[in-house]
Amino acid sequence: MARVLLVIAGGIAAYKVLDLVRRLRERGHETPAILTEAGARFVTPLSVGALSNAPVLTDLFDLDREREIGHIRLARTADLVLVAPASADILARMAAGRADELATAALLATGAPVLVAPAMNPFMWAHPATARNVARLEEDGVAFVGPEAGEMAERNEAGVGRLASSEAILAAIEALLAPARPLAGRHVIVTSGPTHEPIDPVRYIANRSSGRQGHAIAGALAAAGARVTLVTGPVTIAPPKGVDVRKVETAREMLAAVEAALPADAAVMAAAVADFRVEAAAQKMKKADGPPTLTLTENPDILATVCRATNRPRLVVGFAAETQNVVAYARDKLVRKGCDWIVANDVSEGVFGTDQNAVHLVTARGVEAWPRLSKAEVAARLVERIAATLGSD
Ligand code: CTP
Repeated sequence: MARVLLVIAGGIAAYKVLDLVRRLRERGHETPAILTEAGARFVTPLSVGALSNAPVLTDLFDLDREREIGHIRLARTADLVLVAPASADILARMAAGRADELATAALLATGAPVLVAPAMNPFMWAHPATARNVARLEEDGVAFVGPEAGEMAERNEAGVGRLASSEAILAAIEALLAPARPLAGRHVIVTSGPTHEPIDPVRYIANRSSGRQGHAIAGALAAAGARVTLVTGPVTIAPPKGVDVRKVETAREMLAAVEAALPADAAVMAAAVADFRVEAAAQKMKKADGPPTLTLTENPDILATVCRATNRPRLVVGFAAETQNVVAYARDKLVRKGCDWIVANDVSEGVFGTDQNAVHLVTARGVEAWPRLSKAEVAARLVERIAATLGSD
C-alpha cells in the first residue's frame, strides 16, 4: 500500500485517469490528486475526489483547503508522484524547474520517485523542444511510461502520443514502488542486545549493549524480504517492523530460543552474550550477610553451538567487540567458533549506546576495513553482502 500523488495535467486523455484512480484504489493505494488549471478543464475535482476518496487540490478553488492540506505536505508524504496525462506544457515547466502552479510546486518539492505518462499530439511529442525537455527530465531521474502509438482524439491524426494504457502505467508504478527483496523466502535468525544473568531475584549481571546494531540488522533483513526471527535480550529500543521477536533474559534462554528457531538460511549473532552466569541465590541477598561471593559458571557459546549444529545455517555471522588487536582477535574467533564471517567492532573509542560503528568484516577470504558508519549503514552493507552470498548458491 502506497500513497501515489496524481498530478493531472491538461489533455483530452485526462478522463482515462479516472480508471487509473479506481484501479490504484482497488490495489489499496491512496491517491490524493492535484489538478492543473488545464487538467481541471477536462476532469472535475468532484469526479476525481469521488473515486479517490482523498484530497483533490486545484489552483482554482482551493485556497482554503490549501491551508488545511498543503500541496507541499502532499508532495513530501507521497511514495510516488504520477503525472498523467502529462502535456507538452507541463513537461516544459517541469524541465525548467518552474513552480508556477500547485502541481509544479509539488513536483519540485517531492523527494519521491516521479513517473510521467505523456499524452499529446504526435507533432508536439516529436518536436525537438519536447524531446529536449524529456531528455532533461530523464537526466533528473524522472521515469516515463509511454506515450504509445495509435489513433489520436483529433480526427485523422495518428502517431506516437497516446497516453499509455492503464495496465502499462500500473505496471510502471508497481515496478517503481516495489523495493528490491533479494532475501524473499529466506529465514534469518538475529540475536541482539545484552543478556541478564541473575544474581538473586532482584539483581543481575549485564553489559552495555543497547541492541541498536542487532535490531538495525534485523530491520534491514526484513526490508530485504527475509523472514526474520529476532532473539533479543532486555533492551529499551523498539523492535523493527515486520520481524518475529523472541524476548529472552539469560544466555541459556537465548540459546534455547535460537535452537527453537532453526532451521535458517543464515544467522547473525550480534548479541553481547554474558560469558558467565552466576549460581543465583533463591532469596534476595541481605547486606547484613556481608559481601557475597559470586560463583561464576561458563555460559554456553550460542554462536559456536549454532556453527556445530547438524542443521547449521549456510551462513553464520558472528560479532566481536574488541579494544585492541581487532583483526587478529577476530580471525582467531572465526576459526575457534567455526563461523563464516566476523563483524569486528573496535570499541576502544566507545560504541555502546552510540549510533556509529567502526567495523572490519573478517572472512576466510580476507579482511575488509569499513569506514566509520552509522549502525543503519553497517546493517545495510551487511545485508547486501548476505543477500549476495545466499543468492549466489
Ligand atoms: N557469543 C555467543 N554466545 C556466548 C558468547 C558470545 O553467541 N556465550 C557470540 C556473540 O554474539 C558474538 C561472538 O560470539 O557474535 C563474540 O563473542 P565474544 O564474547 O566477543 O567472544 P569470546 O569467545 O567471549 O572471546 P573473548 O572473550 O576473547 O573476547
